[in-house]
Amino acid sequence: MDFIIVEKDVAPFVAVVRLNRPKELNALNLQLMGELRDSLEALDADDTVRAIIITGDRRAFAAGADIKQMSGKTATDMLIADQFSTWDRIKRTKKPIIAAVSGFALGGGCELAMTCDMIIASETAKFGQPEIKIGVMPGAGGTQRLTRAIGKAKAMELVLTGKFIDAKQAEAWGLVNRVVPEELYLEEAIKLASEIAAQSPIAVRLAKEAINHVAESHLNEGLHLERKNFYLLFATEDQTEGMNAFIEKRPPNFTGR
Ligand code: CAA
Repeated sequence: MDFIIVEKDVAPFVAVVRLNRPKELNALNLQLMGELRDSLEALDADDTVRAIIITGDRRAFAAGADIKQMSGKTATDMLIADQFSTWDRIKRTKKPIIAAVSGFALGGGCELAMTCDMIIASETAKFGQPEIKIGVMPGAGGTQRLTRAIGKAKAMELVLTGKFIDAKQAEAWGLVNRVVPEELYLEEAIKLASEIAAQSPIAVRLAKEAINHVAESHLNEGLHLERKNFYLLFATEDQTEGMNAFIEKRPPNFTGR
């Protein structure tokens, strides 16, 4: 694997999955997402693992889906490739997953953290759904999970302006479990994972399933609508303009077409 590092036995029954594309701030390209899906599938089937941590590096958990890889795509390309279907497998992981977040967790990065079951944040963490700034919208659960986590009004503000919130704000709004100093975020996640890994794995699995029933019932229809709308935006001039502007490092000129 090129973009994922899996470390087992960081503590008894605990595995760490590290996103490893540091120069691109762990932008989630198709290969990285495929590798992440495959590693989670393997860890889910591995009896020596009872709790999983997903992390990035200090600068970024992940700065979103890879804009450079998506910029030239049409709506038809997006619908046929259905790239976010990879995320469905991640969502079905039976073992508990903790996101250990430092630095940027933006767009797909924030969505990936929210797809996990718990989030431990470094005090340097920044969360946001900035897709609107590049002429699109969240496509991998942002509109649905953020709204469930922090409520409609705050989710509207974040998704419609693209602004970021810091770790303290994310904690106050209930997005993250807790915030710890930067040098401790992974350690804290391992501590929490170890506490969970010491319990009965089958009881943990069924409890996770039951909690997700509350957190995620009716989620699928919402995810489906969001994904379709995201793909549809690739039929617009604003998507092309927004993504090109990001790549060319200039402000976008949106026309609503
Ligand atoms: N896709 C592709 N490349 C990215 C990227 C992304 N999402 N985020 C950062 N990068 C690249 C940059 O292009 C840059 O590459 P070069 O060195 O080759 O120019 C490198 O990573 C470092 O980034 P910056 O120079 O921009 O670093 P910065 O510290 O000045 O800014 C940032 C950091 C604010 C996170 C900025 O990089 C940024 O705004 N990134 C994009 C965030 C974003 O819009 N995410 C949403 C993507 S769409 C999505 O995720 C859809 C979905 O729902 C799944």
